[in-house]
Amino acid sequence: MTNSLLADASDAAQAADTVKAAAIAAATEQAPAEGWSASSWRAKPAKQIPDYPDAAALAAATTRLGAMPPLVFAGEALDLRGRLAQVANGDAFLLQGGDCAESFADFTANAIRDTFRVLLQMAVVLTYGAKRPVVKIGRIAGQFAKPRSSPTETIDGLELPIYRGDIINGVDFTEEARIPNPQRMIDAYLQSATSLNLLRAFSGGGYADMHRVADWNLGFVDGSAEAKKYREVAERIADALDFMEACGVTPNNTASMRAVDFFTSHEALLLEYEEALTRTDSITGLPLAGSGHMIWIGDRTRQPDGAHLEYCRGVLNPLGLKCGPSLEPDELLTLIDTLNPANAAGRLVLICRFGAGKVADHLPKLVRKVKEAGRTVVWCCDPMHGNTEKSTSGFKTRQFDNVLSEVRDFFNICRAEGVYPGGVHFEMTGLDVTECLGGVSGVLPEDLSKRYHTVCDPRLNASQALELAFLVAEELVASAPSRRRAVR
Ligand code: PEP
Ligand code: CO
Repeated sequence: MTNSLLADASDAAQAADTVKAAAIAAATEQAPAEGWSASSWRAKPAKQIPDYPDAAALAAATTRLGAMPPLVFAGEALDLRGRLAQVANGDAFLLQGGDCAESFADFTANAIRDTFRVLLQMAVVLTYGAKRPVVKIGRIAGQFAKPRSSPTETIDGLELPIYRGDIINGVDFTEEARIPNPQRMIDAYLQSATSLNLLRAFSGGGYADMHRVADWNLGFVDGSAEAKKYREVAERIADALDFMEACGVTPNNTASMRAVDFFTSHEALLLEYEEALTRTDSITGLPLAGSGHMIWIGDRTRQPDGAHLEYCRGVLNPLGLKCGPSLEPDELLTLIDTLNPANAAGRLVLICRFGAGKVADHLPKLVRKVKEAGRTVVWCCDPMHGNTEKSTSGFKTRQFDNVLSEVRDFFNICRAEGVYPGGVHFEMTGLDVTECLGGVSGVLPEDLSKRYHTVCDPRLNASQALELAFLVAEELVASAPSRRRAVR
């Protein structure tokens, strides 16, 4: 029995590797985008990019960044494309998560460690549910620039430019802090390099050992109706690990049990920064966004003829595209063909963010159009950005139940439309913040002021994030058929 189990697993792994290898080959052969250069975005209308008042300081900062090493290597970005091709093919699942906006002030090794750990724990739970490898991507080591709905904000009669993320200006409500300062790009780069250094150490240096990661504390659910359900799943995972160990599969002899592959991502909003970190891959000759493994285009900057599309279409990295309620099917097809003209699996992730109760109004028509046109994409659900609300006490917040409900609708609609629900995208942290409402640990409206630390959108805290992973795993069990042969 063990032999047949291992043989099945090895067949599946081989098939998946073929998909991955094909995606990497396709990416390697990708034709350079016509008329593209790292600065061709400058000829296009650009939304959300600040006006730097000091042109000389801007030039000095981008020249300096241009001479710095890239944060990531092209081979890593291509590897991620291969893994995302497996997701597109239904053979893997994507988990993307992290801060809404990284901040200079809240930058500590412990915060990175805790967020990394919760992401790995979520990934273990999701691997159990999906029965597929989980591709792990942080919104980290570069997620600094924020698109805003309004260019200014007014407090007590004083109107100042809006805060656009630490890479652009300061969060303090003073005239000086709100002036876009190009030195911040250098600071963001250095912080990203330091974060990435730690993440690489955690990923390979023993911190990601499966037995350690699966040693979670479920104390937060105690006394709740959900506790029993989550403990059952946790115990099954522990049993599976014991069984594997008995078969001789241990962290000592199996790399995937002691190390993880972890990738970085951010919104490619600040094109001055992206341009300065663009490098040519010496192997393929193709341009690489050296700022992170994956970059995405936000819902506010996805104009088909806009600067953000122009920059992203030319780099070899895997790309995300946020799809909000105003996106119509024809426009989506235009965007897909601009970003992925070769229709390569693993190049493009559609990150859908419609809001609880609104998925059915938008997702089916998009899915049908993409399916009819034969385009290969990863369908991913961001249940955060359509569910932001103001609490009565004035805090920007999100309700756990709305987040969960959007994920469930996404899964149901993908199933009904015959496409694979490939991933989830969360704003979350490993810290014990009180920014989103609900979950069994029960953040109440009166708790919001206790530990509300985000500089932008509200994040799930560690227990809310892990709880959500258990609930998403349940959905996955329903949508991911077992790979196992039936037990007779
Ligand atoms: C974000 O992901 O932080 C964001 C701003 O998302 P969206 O573009 O979907 O609003
Ligand atoms: Co956000």
